[in-house]
Amino acid sequence: MIFTVAIDGPAAAGKGTISRAVADRFGFAHLDTGLLYRAVGMLGGDPATAARNLTAEDLQRLDLRSLAAGAAASRVAVIPEVRAALFDFQRRFARREGGAVLDGRDIGTVICPDAEVKLYVTASAEVRARRRWLELGGEAAAQPFAEVLAEVEARDARDMGRADAPLKPAADAVQLDTSLMSIDEAVAAAFAHITAHLPG
Ligand code: CDP
Ligand code: CDP
Repeated sequence: MIFTVAIDGPAAAGKGTISRAVADRFGFAHLDTGLLYRAVGMLGGDPATAARNLTAEDLQRLDLRSLAAGAAASRVAVIPEVRAALFDFQRRFARREGGAVLDGRDIGTVICPDAEVKLYVTASAEVRARRRWLELGGEAAAQPFAEVLAEVEARDARDMGRADAPLKPAADAVQLDTSLMSIDEAVAAAFAHITAHLPG
């Protein structure tokens, strides 16, 4: 069975949390496509060359979870040659046998416009920044909340404003605003959409 679930949306909307739950529940392979851009951003040197030569080992070795990695990712993600170099791997992953869930910014619009299910997961910038800040330790975090919020807003603006594959909902995406949802509620909503589209 070829079955792709495309999950797009801004930073800390809950894409990864939902994608991991979907992969578990339906037995699909999961690709967090943000990791590819984070790795290219952290490798340094010429970004297009880094994207063409990216290895699985790079993804293991680098610290890709930091705010700095997210910011570096969104800077290299505006470069068309970087996006082109990462296209085939993502496209093949999406259409692999057995089903796949990919989360990112352009899965439903560019990588897999033919995805069987497209979700656009979002939440207010304040809610998303608070989630990221709590992940960093909340009051114990090195960054104050205002700094995390500014970083999230700057990244949203860069991702939505770029010319190549900007972040936007696909015309046929189902929108899921998780601002007031628990993780369980958001996951249940995603499961319901997928179940409704599964063959047989
Ligand atoms: O992948 P993405 O950046 O969109 O978000 P995530 O890493 O799945 O979620 C960011 C944080 O928000 C995590 O700490 C989640 O546990 C939390 N979260 C939440 O509090 N409520 C939700 N409905 C979804 C995620
Ligand atoms: O987890 P979070 O939503 O904070 O970020 P991410 O998914 O790891 O993505 C980091 C950055 O990579 C994004 O801000 C985008 O600039 C870029 N990205 C992209 O352009 N296209 C994708 N499919 C995934 C990520």
